[in-house]
Amino acid sequence: MLTEKNKMRLLEEDELFPSTPGKVKIERAHTINRQFHRCFASTSTTFLWALFLIALTASYLSFQSFVSTSSRFLSSSAWDRQVRTSASPRRPHGLSVLVTGAAGFVGSHCSLALHKRGDGVVGLDNFNSYYDPSLKRARRDLLSRNSILLIDGDLNDHRLLSKLFSLAHFTHVLHLAAQAGVRYAIENPASYVHSNIAGLVSLLEAVKSADPQPAVVWASSSSVYGLNDKSPFSESDRTDRPASLYAATKKAGEEITHTYNHIYGLSITGLRFFTVYGPMGRPDMAYFSFTKAILAGKPITIYRGKDGVDLARDFTYIDDIVRGCLASLDTAGKSTGSGGKKSGPAPYRIFNLGNTSPVTVPTLVSILEKHLKVKAKKKIVEMPGNGDVPFTHANISLAMAELRYKPSTNLEAGLKKFVKWYISYYGRSSRGGRKTNL
Ligand SMILES: *[C@@H]1O[C@H](CO)[C@@H](O)[C@H](O)[C@H]1NC(C)=O
Repeated sequence: MLTEKNKMRLLEEDELFPSTPGKVKIERAHTINRQFHRCFASTSTTFLWALFLIALTASYLSFQSFVSTSSRFLSSSAWDRQVRTSASPRRPHGLSVLVTGAAGFVGSHCSLALHKRGDGVVGLDNFNSYYDPSLKRARRDLLSRNSILLIDGDLNDHRLLSKLFSLAHFTHVLHLAAQAGVRYAIENPASYVHSNIAGLVSLLEAVKSADPQPAVVWASSSSVYGLNDKSPFSESDRTDRPASLYAATKKAGEEITHTYNHIYGLSITGLRFFTVYGPMGRPDMAYFSFTKAILAGKPITIYRGKDGVDLARDFTYIDDIVRGCLASLDTAGKSTGSGGKKSGPAPYRIFNLGNTSPVTVPTLVSILEKHLKVKAKKKIVEMPGNGDVPFTHANISLAMAELRYKPSTNLEAGLKKFVKWYISYYGRSSRGGRKTNL
């Protein structure tokens, strides 16, 4: 278990841009070709031509194998059957849901909850290494123990998506796949465009062409409120001043989904999540990396806003978010289009899913100290202007009215469950993520 994890950490350092898996393999094929030529530089021209042909074939084959990373499944009837079985609801009038980002934090929890109540679930995830992929594999194993099929594939693989939609008649798509994180965009901006823009459009194209068209529920973000300083954040507040590329791509997603709603009659529900946390969470989040550092006796950096004001977040527990996602699926109206034309207006909804009680970072730390029974070594630093907003606070009255959404876990109780999971998974001496987000 530990060695496996360490292996993946080493891999992680190499694969900073994981979301285009093909790239790595093309480069590998070129290296092989180069070595081939170097070895046999002194032989006769005829022999060289023969070698050239062999090399050409070899590189063609390796190109093929990369093109069909996911498409290798496409001809197997056993795989087709698996997709259909996993997508089939086990209860009358159950949903059939394609969950993207199903190896992710919210995606895995939602997949399990849907399956548990008898809905059909097929998961899709590209297992990129933005954070420790061994955690994603642990979530995959959990899904697999519950007989949920999780496909290793990318949203930008058009062939895979159209194959999936032709195999299974999904009633809903729960689109949670995304490049997350606010500060990582400074290192790898292209990854945000690849997943959150190109991947989204690729998915919507497949959904629009599916017959019947599924309804789409997808994860936007509270970060779209950006520099909004009116509190609490309401859905009708302005969202045209994003403070990070992540927020800008999520905001773009809201506009892009609106277009597909308008032109093709797709039923769209966008969920603005407020700092989701809990067991099996994302290691790049502050509560997670603080836990790791506190246990290791290492100092944690606490950012403080202008004029010494503490940063605060409307931390929302995973089970509350899952209930909000499922309620969104259950109440999503139908898409109205077919064959690329809509036959009438379809719903377009946006909801805040938060907890309505912002907690400051120092309070977060003191709750962690209490549950971990260890004092944190704190380093307090002025917040750099690289994407984090000073506070978030959700107005959830719309979700309460339309989804019967009612968060029931406060930060104290939620972190207790997180810490219990963390220690059972990593032990009391452990390592975690690399970049921290609030
Ligand atoms: C919360 O949002 C609702 C609309 O969903 C709005 O009517 C209400 O005024 C908002 N409350 C506050 C305190 O902003």
